Amino acid sequence: MQEHPIRWETSGTSRIPFALYTQQDSHKKELERFFYKAHWSYVGLDAEIPNPGDFKRTVIGERSVIMTRSQDGQIHVVENVCAHRGMQFCRERHGNKKELVCPYHQWSYALDGKLQGVPFRRGVRQDGKVNGGMPADFDPKDHGLKQLKVATRGGVVFASFDHDVESLEDFMGPTILKYFDRLFNGRKLVVLGYNRQRIPGNWKLMQENIKDPYHPGLLHTWFVTFGLWRADNKSELRMDEHHRHAAMISTRGTAGQATGDKAQVTQVSSFKESMQLHDPSFLDIVPEPWWQLGEQMPTAVMMTLFPSVIFQQQVNSVSTRHIQPDGHGAFDFVWTHFGFEDDTPEMTQRRLRQSNLFGPAGFVSADDGEVIEFSQQAFESKPEHRMLVELGGRDVGETDHMVTETLIRGMYEYWRKVMED
Ligand code: FES
Ligand SMILES: [Fe+2]
Repeated sequence: MQEHPIRWETSGTSRIPFALYTQQDSHKKELERFFYKAHWSYVGLDAEIPNPGDFKRTVIGERSVIMTRSQDGQIHVVENVCAHRGMQFCRERHGNKKELVCPYHQWSYALDGKLQGVPFRRGVRQDGKVNGGMPADFDPKDHGLKQLKVATRGGVVFASFDHDVESLEDFMGPTILKYFDRLFNGRKLVVLGYNRQRIPGNWKLMQENIKDPYHPGLLHTWFVTFGLWRADNKSELRMDEHHRHAAMISTRGTAGQATGDKAQVTQVSSFKESMQLHDPSFLDIVPEPWWQLGEQMPTAVMMTLFPSVIFQQQVNSVSTRHIQPDGHGAFDFVWTHFGFEDDTPEMTQRRLRQSNLFGPAGFVSADDGEVIEFSQQAFESKPEHRMLVELGGRDVGETDHMVTETLIRGMYEYWRKVMED
């Protein structure tokens, strides 16, 4: 079937063609340009592989990779493609191993990806004669696993297939780096648990969802009713110079259910006055010293690092959310809930309790999975159409309010620059 061509209605990005989410060819090009070249992608937390020999299998774009810790404590990221005949040999999600062995013909690799063993390399002796074996000029040094460039900061591990990629710090840019360092300020991280979900929608829709500060106060009954995220919260939107990454910073008004100016929320249909929490400890929010940034004490900072990850602080719940595309119409979304080594047991419990807002069945996040799925359904049925992203104008810029879709326009400005070149 002929794919519908991508046609932008204007020179800007306030009208986004549905075909941007339905084309398989364009999807392949996005993988090449965003995930495999010139960008850093999230792979995990160093706390996931604390000991030598520990590994975690994950993906960058649609390529399978393994994050390992070698005996000397170094973190490596190698591609999960055997250098022999290409098998994706690592099947476990996590584990500990002295070496990586492909089961097919048992080529074995050191944890940094170097090839160290090839069965029958020198042939098999039989009746005084050597049969087979690799050619004399076979050099294991030329046949290791593909090694990626690795960068870690504050306990978070990133990798890139592109060894010429700029530094991680330059990639983030100073504005985003400031918010990154606020969350990952050097304290040791502790993994509290994972959520995994498959969302039948294009991966960019998840970036858009977190660059959209205007939906949480409307779509999410839970947020509106219990006052965690509302359009009248004090807030600001920040971007890197390329407008690909963003931070939404929000400070919650006074505590409790729908307090503050009631008129602001009671007209929102998702506000449910009769709704009460069975367990009020759910809203037992305790401000933490690290929230402080200059004069501010944000209760929520949502960071989108393009293309692969979202870093979340929603009051005491903190997590990374890894975007793992699978074709143009689906992605896996993997949440890693974490805490800090110096947390009290009460704080750990609090973080875990509040993490019920998130993940596939989260009181808040379940809504996002659905709207993404239903958006994708519309795009597939009407690929010649386009969406409208004009709240707050048609241009791109930082703001000190949430009533705008400027971050989405910014991301697609970057998308057009990279994809249309
Ligand atoms: S494919 Fe891996 S050892 Fe042959
Ligand atoms: Fe949402």
